[in-house]
Amino acid sequence: MGTLEGKVALVTGGRGGIGRAICARFAREGAQVYAADLSDGGSLGEPDGSSRFVRLDIASEDEVRAAMAQVATDHGRLDVLVNAAGIEIEKTIEDTTLEEWNRSFAVNVTGTFLTSKHALPLMRAAAAGGSSASIINFGSYDGFIADPGLAAYCATKGAVHALTRAMACDHGPEGIRVNAICPGYVDTPMLQSFFTGDGSGGGGKTIDQLQEAVRDVHPMRTYGTPDDIANLVNWLAGDEARYASGQLWVLDGGLSAQVQQMKL
Ligand SMILES: NC(=O)c1ccc[n+]([C@@H]2O[C@H](COP(=O)([O-])OP(=O)(O)OC[C@H]3O[C@@H](n4cnc5c(N)ncnc54)[C@H](O)[C@@H]3O)[C@@H](O)[C@H]2O)c1
Repeated sequence: MGTLEGKVALVTGGRGGIGRAICARFAREGAQVYAADLSDGGSLGEPDGSSRFVRLDIASEDEVRAAMAQVATDHGRLDVLVNAAGIEIEKTIEDTTLEEWNRSFAVNVTGTFLTSKHALPLMRAAAAGGSSASIINFGSYDGFIADPGLAAYCATKGAVHALTRAMACDHGPEGIRVNAICPGYVDTPMLQSFFTGDGSGGGGKTIDQLQEAVRDVHPMRTYGTPDDIANLVNWLAGDEARYASGQLWVLDGGLSAQVQQMKL
């Protein structure tokens, strides 16, 4: 029997690198899973036969309402919400347009606000039925310390961290736990774009050299995989984590524990 048997879960960014791994893991653990994303990434195939795709822009309140109404009709409750959708603009503030700044906040922060806000009635219903209801947001180690050339992204992730704590305080008494996962470098399309984009600060290195240099500053000498992240998300989603709330869970191969100058 899986750890999420009988639970209903919705994962935003469910067709992205990390979200896809979470959907697959949840389905293997027995959950009914909605993979919510801007596009279904059809060419990459289904993460799992039992995940159901919902087309959704999390920055649109109408679309978020419609998605939650579908979950209400299908199940009448939601045990797990994972807010994994996110975008990354690879620029300093000087190069970032107001439109890019606003879109970063609209997706990473307002999107997390909207899905959580409209999921709450369904999550209360799950908690009332005895489930340890769980919201899992996606922050980043960039919400604590900065990567060069990612100013708007860093700001949005800091906001998600603060929002996570606030939500945990407000909704803990209703039986709803709220945590954030704060990954370091995870090998996904977003990371590939960071290495190939303008914001990588590559200093004349080839992409391969840059990837290797970044890998080497990790105490564990490796990047994370989407499955590494899905493992922790899976634990936070389940009843075993019933006492875990309001925390920012850093998963970065030890990267942020280390004084970087020691590598020079
Ligand atoms: N990959 C990393 O190294 C890393 C590190 C730290 C944090 N994160 C965070 O983890 C989460 C997942 O990242 P990933 O690496 O899987 O990225 P990804 O780019 O592979 O996937 C992100 C997904 O979000 C979807 N999305 C974007 N805007 C959306 C919107 N408005 N509505 C609905 N869906 C939308 C995209 O279509 C995509 O499928 C993000 O919040 C990201 O900021 C990633």
